[in-house]
Amino acid sequence: MKHTLFAVASTIAVIGASTAQAERNIVVGHALSPTSHYGIGAQAFIDTLTELSGGEFTGSQAPAGQLGGERDMIEGLQIGSMDVVVTSTGPLGNFVPEVYALDLPFLFRDYDHARAVLDGDIGQELLAKIDENQLVGLAWSENGFRHVTNSQRPVRTPADLDGLKLRTMENRVHMEAFSQMGAAPTPMAFPELFTALQQGVVDGQENPVTVITASKFWEVQGYVSLTGHVYSPAIVLASPILLDGLTDEQRGWFYEAAKASSVATRTEVNRLEEAGVALLRENGMEVITDIDKAPFAELAQSSYSVYTDQYGTELVERIQAVE
Ligand code: PAF
Repeated sequence: MKHTLFAVASTIAVIGASTAQAERNIVVGHALSPTSHYGIGAQAFIDTLTELSGGEFTGSQAPAGQLGGERDMIEGLQIGSMDVVVTSTGPLGNFVPEVYALDLPFLFRDYDHARAVLDGDIGQELLAKIDENQLVGLAWSENGFRHVTNSQRPVRTPADLDGLKLRTMENRVHMEAFSQMGAAPTPMAFPELFTALQQGVVDGQENPVTVITASKFWEVQGYVSLTGHVYSPAIVLASPILLDGLTDEQRGWFYEAAKASSVATRTEVNRLEEAGVALLRENGMEVITDIDKAPFAELAQSSYSVYTDQYGTELVERIQAVE
């Protein structure tokens, strides 16, 4: 009898242990705060994955670049030290050069155009390219149209950028575009940026309203010019090492969770496009809106060659043709 009881107790203990082991916590890394558009998207991913899997997977955020800059986190996905990352495409072209097509300045007309491209055939084709490079592209998400901020002066024309030390992402297209527009581009990982602005290592930076508000850049930048010079897509990426070990059903949950993440992020981008500029003004930034974009676009045009020299103009023309 004693033996039987012991055997039953051991079996229960083993089942308990294996159930506990079966629960897997998925870490979702990103560069911004938990309340930002990325944080909201990361949480939607976690909640959807937990719900669809009936608790087989749970999740937690590693926000604010805790696990490194976006480039480091993408490398982490390739070697399996990261599970899932929400990132801009800024550093992704270093891994999948075809993606540079999405980072070309003055390419997308507006949010509807960008979302139609990413949600259509072109978006699917680029996700497939990403999958050929030791990464899994789960879904396109969104960062937003980027604008220039700086501590020195209002920027209305390319001449006003002259000599400004401007932090850019580690992205060859952006660096080339800003050097043609007259600034001195300084590529830097985002986690170093606030201190660099504070200490005057750089005079300015460029990011969407979503990021300028989430990062409280008004504490270190007096001017924001609504240049909208480039649309900044984001993407939910996963590690192929993680996904290869899953069943088809489990992988399906990850794709569904990424879609939910994208919807939540875009909803927050929409909200901040409405409310964010007022917030910048309330916090003392001078917001420059009377900007003629044509001279910026003309100068930035030569940055297209970073992409077209290698891949030609076909994809760019297809993107432009999307209604
Ligand atoms: O500027 C960047 O590096 C990106 O826009 C950011 C803020 C990390 C969001 O993807």
